[in-house]
Amino acid sequence: MNYRHAFHAGNFGDVLKHVVLLELLAALHRKPSPVHLIDSHAGIGRYDLASDEAQRGGEFRFGVQAVLADPAAVRILPRYVAALRSLNPGLREDGGDLQVYPGSPWLLARSLRGAEDRLTLCELHPEDAETLRHNLAIDFGRDPRIALHHRNGFEALKALTPPTPRRGLALIDPAYEAKDEFAMVARAVLATLRRWPTGQLAVWYPIKEQKAVDAWKAGLAADLGTETLAVELTVRPAREARQMNGNGLLLVNPPWQLAETLMPMLDFLQARLAREAGAGARIETLVKGD
Ligand SMILES: C[S@@+](CC[C@H](N)C(=O)[O-])C[C@H]1O[C@@H](n2cnc3c(N)ncnc32)[C@H](O)[C@@H]1O
Repeated sequence: MNYRHAFHAGNFGDVLKHVVLLELLAALHRKPSPVHLIDSHAGIGRYDLASDEAQRGGEFRFGVQAVLADPAAVRILPRYVAALRSLNPGLREDGGDLQVYPGSPWLLARSLRGAEDRLTLCELHPEDAETLRHNLAIDFGRDPRIALHHRNGFEALKALTPPTPRRGLALIDPAYEAKDEFAMVARAVLATLRRWPTGQLAVWYPIKEQKAVDAWKAGLAADLGTETLAVELTVRPAREARQMNGNGLLLVNPPWQLAETLMPMLDFLQARLAREAGAGARIETLVKGD
């Protein structure tokens, strides 16, 4: 395991993933009944943007920082900006002075409501799992609703679904280090849905070559059998396998009217995050709902 998310925190992939995640959470929390949230590949929960790791690649400058530099961000992405502000009380109007970037465990933990909501987090890297435990304690203490597992997230999805309560969401956000990770993700999605047909799944994926990703989605869509969207953002034409040219989220069992809510946000993100002509944003219906 070489991947450490600290080098990539706040990049354009995180921005898309976290903007969408916050909308999924808002939709889930519209009903008062309790939810179970799962993050199978959690990372360390919060990221110091002044750290050597974050500074080395500087990826957040082409991600969260580029988004916040536009004063319209607070109007178009109110939940995202509010989350950033809550971790960075000194954040300036132009996005200046952003010091800490929230990871998905932090966003999920912050959304927990009554005593019956649950959050399950899995992180396989031993050091990162320990850092996550420490980081969560900073903001949430020892919250009995949160279970942190140092274990393989794919195995945990098998062992821990369907969760109690049943209503809820799993974020599946692997590092895509292994050559066969796209295939592993597809198997995990299908197996999870067999056990938990009503679960909402948000599955992040990188886009290097669009063609290869489209073939993976089409293969998966043929077996899914339940409403699924693919939300994608590319920052340059996705023709070369050399680098991450874009990223996407598969949203299985999405909330009602999510695409309508997300489209203006995606258009804004594309305008802020494009690195070259030919960048794009789209929401594709992979499998239609009933
Ligand atoms: C992309 S990062 C997660 C970022 C996080 N979800 C967020 O949005 O803030 C992927 C994480 O998965 C961890 N990881 C890699 N393989 C794993 C596995 N099989 N099970 C659980 N975690 C794994 C890595 O150590 C890394 O921290």
